[in-house]
Formats: sequence, C-alpha cells, structure tokens
Amino acid sequence: MPKITYIDSAGTSRTIDAEVGATVMETAIKNDVPGIEAECGGACACATCHVYVDEAWREKVGGPSPMEEDMLDFGYDVKPNSRLSCQIKVADALDGLIVRTPERQA
Ligand code: FES
Repeated sequence: MPKITYIDSAGTSRTIDAEVGATVMETAIKNDVPGIEAECGGACACATCHVYVDEAWREKVGGPSPMEEDMLDFGYDVKPNSRLSCQIKVADALDGLIVRTPERQA
C-alpha cells in the first residue's frame, strides 16, 4: 500500500496507508486527517480539498487540469505547487508522497 504523508500548517505530520485508486482527498477524509474539508465530495467544485504538493513530488504528481486550475482560483493562498487533493489518484508510483495542508481552506 502506498504511504501518503500529510503535514498540517502547524507542522504535524501524519503518514497513512492509502488504497490504490482512491484519491488523496478520500484517503484523508477516511483517516480523519484534519485540514481537508472536501465540501463537494470530490467533484472538483469547491476547492476545500486544497493541498500543496511537496516540491520533490511535483513532477510525478503532475499539474492540474484546466478545470481544476479554474477551481483553484477559489482556493486560499494558492501557490505554484497547489493541487486539489480530490484530483490526485493514489498509485503505487506515489508511494511516499508528501502533501501539506494550507492554514485554512477557502
Ligand atoms: S473535494 Fe471539492 S474540489 Fe476537491
């Protein structure tokens, strides 16, 4: 099972065993990881699942789709490594992925 590490804005880190095929958002919600709200349930329609992808992982994770980019405009403190975690699918290639949650969601 790929492991995903979520680091909150206070620096607390949680490493979770994630299911391949689930999203980074679903994995967080299922495991009570704070800092991700996911109000729309993963439809790319709320921007409250915003995370920052660790620099070392940006290339592997890839960039947002045009639709995700439009929705990210509504995110809080969006940066070049911002993604919506409901749009990142867990895969074996992402074993060890690190994402950080913003200070708050939009
Ligand atoms: S959960 Fe709403 S955009 Fe990701």
